[in-house]
Amino acid sequence: MASARQLHLGAFMRPVSIHTGAWRWPGAFPDANFNLAHLKRFIQTLERGRFDAFFMADHLAVLNMPLEALKRSHTVTSFEPFTLLSALSAFTERIGLVATASTTFDAPYHIARRFASLDHLSGGRAGWNIVTTSNPDAALNFGLEEHMEHAERYARAREFYEVVTGLWDSWADDAFVRDAESGIYFDPEKLHALAHKGKYLSVRGPLNIARPVQGWPVIVQAGASDAGRQLAAETAEVVFAAGLPLPAARQFYADVKGRAQKAGRNPDHVKILPGALVIVADTVEEARARRAKLDSLVHYESAIASLSIALGHDASTFDPDGPLPDIPDTNQSKSGRERVVDLARRERLTVRQLAQRLGGYSGLTFAGTPATIADAMEEWLHSRASDGFNVMFPYLPQGLDDFVDRVVPELQRRGLFRREYPGVTLRDTLGLPRPENRFFA
Ligand SMILES: Cc1cc2nc3c(=O)[nH]c(=O)nc-3n(C[C@H](O)[C@H](O)[C@H](O)COP(=O)(O)O)c2cc1C
Repeated sequence: MASARQLHLGAFMRPVSIHTGAWRWPGAFPDANFNLAHLKRFIQTLERGRFDAFFMADHLAVLNMPLEALKRSHTVTSFEPFTLLSALSAFTERIGLVATASTTFDAPYHIARRFASLDHLSGGRAGWNIVTTSNPDAALNFGLEEHMEHAERYARAREFYEVVTGLWDSWADDAFVRDAESGIYFDPEKLHALAHKGKYLSVRGPLNIARPVQGWPVIVQAGASDAGRQLAAETAEVVFAAGLPLPAARQFYADVKGRAQKAGRNPDHVKILPGALVIVADTVEEARARRAKLDSLVHYESAIASLSIALGHDASTFDPDGPLPDIPDTNQSKSGRERVVDLARRERLTVRQLAQRLGGYSGLTFAGTPATIADAMEEWLHSRASDGFNVMFPYLPQGLDDFVDRVVPELQRRGLFRREYPGVTLRDTLGLPRPENRFFA
């Protein structure tokens, strides 16, 4: 029996993997960050698996970690998202293309143009992951001494969203008449100049690109703070949630959907997709062994730095192969430390294993067989903890192929996932309406 609600699946693409040890996995593509042939293979496989979207993260500075740790990680660099997704749009037909772009370090006219272009190029498959950029080092790359403060970043983001969506509405959908007989190319009555002057931004308009195929590219958000959730509730159509444990994920889901309703929106038009690392094997034991092997590829020096940060205590003097010793109270984040201590006790990890878990990837993980992974995804969907997942692959290409060839068919067999794309655009795939033009109803 097919269930009514189905999963939405995004692929959270760090091209080598989110896991910092993955580039050392046998058969990995360690150069995938800058190798178009590999990225083409990944996205075509995802499209064969009927994924909703390929999601490209972006950062405006090298990650702010010590070089000693950074030099061991492939996650430090990758393609600029628009350039990459424009190229990938030519190799695909249905999968969504979500680019990350910052409201703190970019201009709304630039952002509106780039997304409108990507949406036209791809036949209506673009999505904008709105970020405010948390890495303070980014400021130093844009002529600023100091990073804009959190609340102000979000206030600017809200205004930025109004300006960008207003620019997308510059032209009525039927503005370009292209009437060779009369010699009229477009109807000036169907053109609107935004004339925006606000607290942070001043933009006259109109946009010099026709209204996007989707009206507006799909709006995506990943904020977690109160301000981040509120912005998501007011604007986002897809929310990339951090991978929380199930009870906390349910609370997050209810909170954001409730806020959306209060803001006058239809909560069904806000899809919440937590990030989840998925490790597939023939047995649960083998999946766990794969995870342990992957974690063991994280170099101890960078692993122990991550553990020290998480504990708020220098862990470099601990016996790597002994259990985690008791740690005196410090001023650091208590909840963060408790989470780490709990993890060590629960899985009986040595200091080395714990450090490697934190240095690799320690968020929500489904490690098991196609059946146990489908069970977990079904439980999350049906208990209203999510509308799907932003899937992360432990190592590529193998982990991605495993998901598409083994987990997707199991989800389809259970009626939990589509067998075909329902339409043409990313909005069709996500079941989202096309926004009306606010100036030309
Ligand atoms: C799945 C996921 C993906 C994210 N991708 C990016 C990214 O590509 N670039 C970026 O600057 N921030 C990214 N973020 C960070 C968020 O934009 C946001 O800053 C973070 O979740 C903290 O939320 P807050 O700023 O509301 O406290 C991501 C967060 C999550 C959970």
